[in-house]
Amino acid sequence: MSNAKRNIFVTTALPYANGAFHFGHILEYIQADIWVRHERMCGNNVHFVCADDAHGAPIMIAASKQGVTPQEFVAKISAGRQQYLDNFYINFDHWHCTESPENTELSQDIYRRLKDAGLIYTTDIEQFYDEEVGMFLADRFIKGTCPKCGAPDQYGDSCEKCSSVYSPTDLINPYSAISGSVPVLKTSTHYFFRLSDPRAQAFLKDWTMGNGADGKPRVQAEVLAKDNEWLDGNLADWDISRDAPYFGIEIPDAPGKYFYVWLDAPIGYLASFKAYCAKKGLDFVQELSRPNTEQIHFIGKDIIYFHTLFWPAMLHFAGTPYRVPDHVNVHGFMTVNGQKMSKSIGNVVDPFVLGERYGADAIRYHILREMALGADSSFSNEIMINRINSDLANGFGNLVSRTVAMVIKYFDGTLPAEKTAGEFDDDLIAQATALTEKVDDFMDKTQLQNALAEIFKVVSRANKYIDETAPWVLAKDEANKPRLAAVLYNLLETIRITSSLLSAFMPTVMPEVWEQIG
Ligand code: 2FM
Ligand code: ZN
Repeated sequence: MSNAKRNIFVTTALPYANGAFHFGHILEYIQADIWVRHERMCGNNVHFVCADDAHGAPIMIAASKQGVTPQEFVAKISAGRQQYLDNFYINFDHWHCTESPENTELSQDIYRRLKDAGLIYTTDIEQFYDEEVGMFLADRFIKGTCPKCGAPDQYGDSCEKCSSVYSPTDLINPYSAISGSVPVLKTSTHYFFRLSDPRAQAFLKDWTMGNGADGKPRVQAEVLAKDNEWLDGNLADWDISRDAPYFGIEIPDAPGKYFYVWLDAPIGYLASFKAYCAKKGLDFVQELSRPNTEQIHFIGKDIIYFHTLFWPAMLHFAGTPYRVPDHVNVHGFMTVNGQKMSKSIGNVVDPFVLGERYGADAIRYHILREMALGADSSFSNEIMINRINSDLANGFGNLVSRTVAMVIKYFDGTLPAEKTAGEFDDDLIAQATALTEKVDDFMDKTQLQNALAEIFKVVSRANKYIDETAPWVLAKDEANKPRLAAVLYNLLETIRITSSLLSAFMPTVMPEVWEQIG
């Protein structure tokens, strides 16, 4: 653990406020929560926030279907969040909403700064309009064939198959997802963020290839490769406005125009942090501007374009006190037997059902044990049960229960001061004492899976040490008591180290272990 204290502002992607959390959300929150707990154990100062992503046409339309205002619709979803987070011991410091005064103020401020920097312009564009329902169609309400890869039934803003981002008018054979009708093109003035500006291209080349404050690459190699592909193809300007009726934040001095939800959504990170600072009596601008502050985002691989291109560019050109992200950590998807979870396939795994069946700690452990950062991982009940049995029950659980039972049986629960070193000790002690540094190193690189693997190597080593030293044989001869005490001491010390490191992963079980080992 390094001595310089870090001041870290951490977020996970903001979920749309139109439904309950699914596996993807929980997976990401658990990943970030574990990382945050670990950083705190290292003595770092961490602010961990999230919020509901409230705006956009889908929520507006869903609310109108229920006969409520979008605000009422979102408030109801938000009110149900905490219990689900608590179920998995996901401890955000603050949960906010993008439909909030903080987000309006920050979004309008950032927009004005981008405009002052000469990066905003307007142009009249033809856009799809659904004459049957009387509104311009938001990207999510136009479907058609992806212009890049040819996948059918893709949304109007991006392709779920190849992750390309494009304009709805680029879609092949478009149709309205609201009425099913073929939409007509109608002209309207739109606001654009000039991402094609050479300044933006140069900045993003630099940002994507650079390092965060900790000296490690801002993005993973596979993310950088994707960014380079996009950057080499030259970035298109970004349409940041939508016409009324729209549930969003008004664009200053532009009546009837709203920010596209993806403009104000990431600003919601800052809005949440601002509200949290107010709650804590902290000065938001001061916190953001500290020289040792780091801004770190955890996201899924479907929203790389927004987070590693649009978002850093917005922040950079808005200027201080805004700061560019130090890291954008990208995870893959949890699949089921290699297939994407989807309602239509009927293979959706409900994390809450699993949590009730196996306990939150086991789910937290399993998800991270199987999931390498950036890669997809396939879920199966069988793999999970095997993992829980082999690593947790037989591996760690056995180590603790055997050790504690022997300390009680042979020493009434208290080890004597007199101990004798012996064969096999050095190897175990060397592995256990080197562990913290190794785990820190993997955690610094957000390689949680590797950190866990290292911990369990030491757990296995300790179990083997029990077999090698055979304490039950030592116990037969009173003369061996000092040696027996040393063996049990080494085991307890190994349990202390591994359980501390595991406590970020399994926050409820490890305190029980500490109780047991006294
Ligand atoms: O993809 C999504 O679910 C978005 N709601 C994520 C937004 S992340 C951030 F930009 F707010
Ligand atoms: Zn595609």
